Amino acid sequence: MIEILFSAGPESWAEYEAPLREALDGHGLSYRLSCDAAPESVDYIVYAPSSGLRDFTPYTRLRAVLSLWAGVETITGNETLRVPLARMVDEEGLTTGMVEYVAGHVLRHHLGMDAYIVNPGHEWAPVVPPLAPERPVTVLGLGALGSACATALAGLGFPVTGWSRSPKDVAGVTCLHGEEGLEAALAHAQILVLLLPNTPATQNILNAETLARLPRGAAIVNPGRGPLIDDAALIAALDSGQVGHATLDVFRTEPLPAEHPFWAHPGVTVTPHIAAETRVSSAARVVAENIRRGEAGEPLLHLVDRDAGY
Ligand code: NDP
Ligand code: OXD
Repeated sequence: MIEILFSAGPESWAEYEAPLREALDGHGLSYRLSCDAAPESVDYIVYAPSSGLRDFTPYTRLRAVLSLWAGVETITGNETLRVPLARMVDEEGLTTGMVEYVAGHVLRHHLGMDAYIVNPGHEWAPVVPPLAPERPVTVLGLGALGSACATALAGLGFPVTGWSRSPKDVAGVTCLHGEEGLEAALAHAQILVLLLPNTPATQNILNAETLARLPRGAAIVNPGRGPLIDDAALIAALDSGQVGHATLDVFRTEPLPAEHPFWAHPGVTVTPHIAAETRVSSAARVVAENIRRGEAGEPLLHLVDRDAGY
C-alpha cells in the first residue's frame, strides 16, 4: 500500500482529492491518500508551500516530494529534504495558461491598446502600431514555460530572442545563453518577458544597469518571480521613460502591500499572481504519473536540480 500525504492546504485538498484519486486509480495503484498520514508511514508528499510543511525530518520512509507549483524556490534549499523533488510541468494546464497570459500582455503593449481602452477625453488620435515582424521580443528563461511562450510569440510573427543558462535550440527563436548572451538579448528587447526561476543567480537580474541596456521605452512583462527585478531600479526607469510600462504578476511580497509604489504608478499594471494557475485535473495526472514511475522504478519526471535551485 502506497501512503500519499497531500500537504497543500485544506482548500486545495477539497479540489484535488477526487481528481487525484481518479488519476491514481487510472494507473491501478494501491494507495492510501490523505492529508493527515503519520509521517513515518508516508511514501510521497504532494506539496505546495502554502501547507507550511518545512521540516521533512520525521518522514523517514519518504521517496519523493511532488510539488504542485512550478516555482520551487521555497523548498530547494531545505536541508531536511533528502529525497528527490519534482516540480510541476503541465503542458495542458499551466503552460497553456502562461502562453495565453504572455501573448495577451505582449499584444497589449505591441498594439498600444491602453491608449484606446483608457481614453477619458474621447480623443480621436490614431497611432498605427508596427506589425509584429518589426517588434523584437525577448524571453528570459527558455524552460517549460519560456520556450512555449517564445514559440507562440514567434508564431504570431514577432522576431523572438530567448535566453537561458545552457545552450538551447527552440525552432523559430534566436537562442542566446550565458552572461555574454544577456547583453544582446536585452539590447533587442522592445518587449521583455521574464520567465526565469527565483535563484541566487537570477535575483535582481533586472537592475539599473541591465534596465539601461533595453531599448528606450521598452515594455516588461514579469510572470516569473518578483525578486528577478530590483523594484527601486524599475520605478526609476519608468519615471525616466527608459521603461515604457511594466506588467507585473509576481512580487517580493505577496499580496503586494497596499503602500507599495507599484500600485499607484501609472506605468505599472499589477496582476495578482494569476498568470498561470496550476489546473487541478491535468496537475493530478502529472502527480499520479510520477507516483506510477516511482513505484515502477522509472526515473521521475521534472526533477529539480537542487544545486542550481530550479
Ligand atoms: P524551467 O525550470 O523549466 O525553466 C527555467 C529557465 O530559466 C531555463 O531555461 C533555465 O535555463 C533558465 N535559467 C535558470 N537560471 C538561469 C540563469 N542563471 N541564467 C540564465 N537562464 C537561467 O521553469 P518553468 O519554465 O517551468 O518556469 C519558470 C518560472 O515561472 C518558475 O520558476 C516560476 O517562478 C514561474 N511561474 C510563475 C507562474 C505564475 O502564475 N506567475 C506560474 C508558474 C511558474 P536552462 O534551460 O539552461 O536550464
Ligand atoms: C507556480 C506559480 O510556481 O503558480 O506554480 O507561480
